[in-house]
Amino acid sequence: MTNLKNKRIVLGVTGGIAAYKTATIASRLVQAGAAVDVVMTESATKFITPLTFQALTHRRVYTDLFDIPPDDNIPHIDLSHNIDLLLIAPATANTIAKMAHGQADNLLTSIALATSKPVLIAPAMETDMWEHPATKQNVQSLTDWGVMMVEPAAGRLASGRIGYGRMAEPDEIVDVARWVLARHGDMRGLRVVVTAGGTREPLDPVRYLTNRSSGRMGHALAEVARDRGATVTLISAAKLPVPHGVSPVAVDTAAQMTDAVLAAIPAADALVMAAAVADYRPATVAARKIKKTDGDLQLPLARTDDILRRVAAFRAETGFPKVVVGFAAETDDLLENARAKLTRKRLDWIVANDVTRADAGFAVETNRVTLLGADGTVESLPLMAKTDVAAEIWNRVTAACGDTRK
Ligand code: CTP
Repeated sequence: MTNLKNKRIVLGVTGGIAAYKTATIASRLVQAGAAVDVVMTESATKFITPLTFQALTHRRVYTDLFDIPPDDNIPHIDLSHNIDLLLIAPATANTIAKMAHGQADNLLTSIALATSKPVLIAPAMETDMWEHPATKQNVQSLTDWGVMMVEPAAGRLASGRIGYGRMAEPDEIVDVARWVLARHGDMRGLRVVVTAGGTREPLDPVRYLTNRSSGRMGHALAEVARDRGATVTLISAAKLPVPHGVSPVAVDTAAQMTDAVLAAIPAADALVMAAAVADYRPATVAARKIKKTDGDLQLPLARTDDILRRVAAFRAETGFPKVVVGFAAETDDLLENARAKLTRKRLDWIVANDVTRADAGFAVETNRVTLLGADGTVESLPLMAKTDVAAEIWNRVTAACGDTRK
């Protein structure tokens, strides 16, 4: 579940070829549980029909400022006041110019002028139009007034030319919309640090030792905390997309992750260590590729730092982070091993999962975990999506941090 559930979003569509991608945006928003009212300019209807959006949103599509049903509220008042977000995608140079000059000559620009709710625009236009001083100035005015923007990307444009001005991809736009909506979430004001992925310990310039962690649980934790309004630092060894608004710290090795965690925690309310940190690294890293010989190869390994034990020492001195959660991925004696780690690493909770199961643990979207608390509580959660496991973890962390929020 995302923070789009039960949100009312006006999706403004203006006349650009990228309007066909807006069908995907509408579909993603509706699938996530948002109520989506599509408002099209007349030129948008030349690129895609209102029927497409009506079918996707199961709601009436608005195209005309003066089309006021007798039993309805005046659309531009209702659609500017009783909403959570106005998202305009694509936003043409023309609509941006009108908004920047307070013009209200159609339903969409009237809503944009009348609303005090968050406004997010996804511009799309030819490079020359995007780079024109008039557009630059208009965009600047809008951003100065608090309008948020998903920057256009470089790529193939309607003209066939390659350049800057192509609308960002629907998934990116939806991700930024979630970030915009996060501001009223129950984790606002909380600063959290999450680690993710399996560290990689180099052996020589072409090889490394690692483990099967995909990083999905850690990235899900970061995404859910972001959706709920937290300030999130994601220290990740995984090559996965980072949710918009999350501060990423990319690391490879356990030593780099140790440094990044110790740098991040002095300002953190909570640390959740979902990363699978290597316990051993090759004792030396060969400067050149190790060549094979006829005999076997012995590989001396050296211990890495136990990051959570370093965190415990720091917390004992400073009181930060206020809440610390670890993970225990086990193949045997799950609860005994997890409880021993909870005590040894001085954690508030440990999230135990049996990685021998096919539907839980590494490289899948679901997880089946047991949460063990320092107070002796043991809660076994059913099989659920990693984002739902993340929500369960944050529910507990947020309650424990409750009185630390500004
Ligand atoms: N962890 C850590 N530093 C390490 C290894 C692990 O901080 N060098 C953290 C992990 O991020 C996880 C928790 O400790 O939150 C438990 O990790 P796990 O690998 O299960 O525990 P280990 O202490 O390494 O114990 P073992 O390998 O013996 O099971």
